[in-house]
Amino acid sequence: MGENSNLALSFHNIDRTEAPKSAVRFLDGLNNTQQVQEIQRLTHRLLGVSEGSQVLDAGCGLGEVTREVAKLVGKTGRVVGVDLSESMVAESRRRTEDPALPVEFRVGDIHHLDFPDWSFDACRSSRVFMYLDDPCQALSELVRLTRPGGTVLLFEPEFDSWILNGPDRAVVRKLIHFWTDQLRNPWIGRQLPSLFHAQGLTDVTVTPVSASWFLPHLETFGLRAVLDKAIQAGVATRSEVEEWLRFMEEAERTGCFFGVMTGLVIRGVKPAT
Ligand SMILES: C[S@@+](CC[C@H](N)C(=O)[O-])C[C@H]1O[C@@H](n2cnc3c(N)ncnc32)[C@H](O)[C@@H]1O
Repeated sequence: MGENSNLALSFHNIDRTEAPKSAVRFLDGLNNTQQVQEIQRLTHRLLGVSEGSQVLDAGCGLGEVTREVAKLVGKTGRVVGVDLSESMVAESRRRTEDPALPVEFRVGDIHHLDFPDWSFDACRSSRVFMYLDDPCQALSELVRLTRPGGTVLLFEPEFDSWILNGPDRAVVRKLIHFWTDQLRNPWIGRQLPSLFHAQGLTDVTVTPVSASWFLPHLETFGLRAVLDKAIQAGVATRSEVEEWLRFMEEAERTGCFFGVMTGLVIRGVKPAT
């Protein structure tokens, strides 16, 4: 079991609950994958920012996306990355090599941010809402900060959408469901369109994005730790879990392994007043 085994599930307060260095390594491992980079590029296109835009990246992590967006808005724009974790903000600042990049990083809680109403043309957040105590409050905060006519965009993975092969469908299904249920807000992606409508956002679109992963990626996502927990919880027997693991390891060894998961990009527009 790796040191990052539970990070995919417990990002809601990494300074207190996880070793920040492990969190940095975990996020770097994911962000350096082609899969995540393609998803981020899609979110840039859907966000629709241009020269001069003012953008908030809430729950910015290491600031990788924040810096990419800053390149799109040019010198007359401004991009602010906010994160609850002081260590993430410190690392984001350390990695910002170009002093001319119009980007800044601040510590803050997405539920209550210290900016006036209508501060940004666009507010974005990726892989954050699944960890939050109160996603409705956080969304309402992003809507408050978006100017009329501006855009709100979120990306969240849907863990229940895992397509994984195995020798016994019932075992695979119950273990995927168990894995999903370890998250604080496991169905937030599919709930967000209703929450967007409830916040009065218009032109709401949902863009599904699927990515293929290999067994080492699943290990990074904490597969083995979750399977151990499932055995302890009595959800599956040790022999069921071991049979599935042997099946997947053999598939990986013979080049037949694939795991597909779908995430959702939800975008909406704040109506002009
Ligand atoms: C999985 S990381 C995603 C980071 C980044 N958005 C990305 O896509 O690479 C989740 C981030 O959300 C931050 N976070 C969690 N709860 C938060 C909150 N209440 N307010 C602000 N940031 C939060 C964590 O500290 C962590 O950096």
